[in-house]
Amino acid sequence: MYELLSSPVDYGGLTLKNRIIFSPTTLGVPEDEQVERLARIAAGGCAMIIIGDVPVGKHGFGPSLFTQKGFAHYQRLIEAIHAHGCKVCAQLHQSDSDLSAMLKCVPGMLTHRLGPDDLRKRLNDAVGPYITGLSERKVEAITASFGEAAERAVAAGFDLVQVHGDRMCGSFSSAVFNHRTDRYGGSAENRARFAVEAVAAIRRKLPELPIDYKLAVRQEDPHYGNAGVLVEELPVFVPLLEEAGVTSFHITLANHSDLSDTIPPAKHPAFGAEGCFLPFCDRVRALTKKPICAVGGLTDPDFIEEQLKAGRMDCAAMSRQLIADPEWPNKVFDGRAGEIHRCVRCNKECLGGMMAHRGVHCIYERKVSQ
Ligand SMILES: Cc1cc2nc3c(=O)[nH]c(=O)nc-3n(C[C@H](O)[C@H](O)[C@H](O)COP(=O)(O)O)c2cc1C
Ligand code: SF4
Repeated sequence: MYELLSSPVDYGGLTLKNRIIFSPTTLGVPEDEQVERLARIAAGGCAMIIIGDVPVGKHGFGPSLFTQKGFAHYQRLIEAIHAHGCKVCAQLHQSDSDLSAMLKCVPGMLTHRLGPDDLRKRLNDAVGPYITGLSERKVEAITASFGEAAERAVAAGFDLVQVHGDRMCGSFSSAVFNHRTDRYGGSAENRARFAVEAVAAIRRKLPELPIDYKLAVRQEDPHYGNAGVLVEELPVFVPLLEEAGVTSFHITLANHSDLSDTIPPAKHPAFGAEGCFLPFCDRVRALTKKPICAVGGLTDPDFIEEQLKAGRMDCAAMSRQLIADPEWPNKVFDGRAGEIHRCVRCNKECLGGMMAHRGVHCIYERKVSQ
């Protein structure tokens, strides 16, 4: 019944056993629990898990591939996921948070004068000046580090890498933040250069490695998303990224705005519907033959099968739906779709749990344990 959903696909040179991908999701739980939960998601039948926010340097948020401890952490995750026949992708990212702006916020946070929303706003305000002021030498060192991180990722056992097109790639891409006047700023071609050089650095080191690109798209009228590629500029960015070595695109709304825009609840005014970011996929589909992975409010197997048939996407990535029910793929493929705990996009325990620093969970866990 779900012929396409359950069929294998060549995802930029890597064979995936079906079309379901666990979208990058930082769980904010201790390591043992993270391993156990990712293993449960892999056992639920999805074809690939993307590990979110793997830093390209030694220092950054999250374990580093360049430290012994961080490397061992990723090896442990990969082993637990591979045990279930599931592929693993490292989402390589460089933060665009200005460390000095962050340090200035510490006293306010300690005295509770600044809440998480204030902190986010202050850090967002600092992104433009930080990106615009980075020296060319520093920029070149950062883009080169994507190649070095990809080598470490492969050595740890990752099957492919995803370049996080939000964060620093996204802020360089966006005229909202990038006010540089050198070869990294100004025209769309120049603003694409950072991302293109990051991808090319990986391709130089690893000629055969599939490189997925998280293409963060932003739009005006109405305005949504800040760091990322404006819809109208996709015809410049997509071919340049492809030429640099990107083998597939993972398409979503750009960030650096309200988190509930990129992780939209069902009541969101623009992105409340199933498959809310698919119109961005359509724009990219017109520009490339590379595989496209959609994400955003995908929960209904019938809907997903229809979109695959229509050629709007080649894979479906899910974050909240696989948190709500890791068994979604097995249930769909075994004819038990009626038993799925459908994510209702309430954001109560997943995004809510993350914001309240109690880890990412789901309302269904409470129901199950009651
Ligand atoms: C709790 C939580 C953590 C997330 N962490 C990341 C992350 O580390 N990196 C990333 O690129 N996206 C992250 N996302 C965004 C998801 O990958 C996805 O794009 C978004 O949730 C929309 O998909 P969904 O409707 O299937 O949840 C996160 C989402 C959630 C809910
Ligand atoms: S709490 Fe559960 S049901 Fe609600 S949005 Fe998050 S994952 Fe979906």
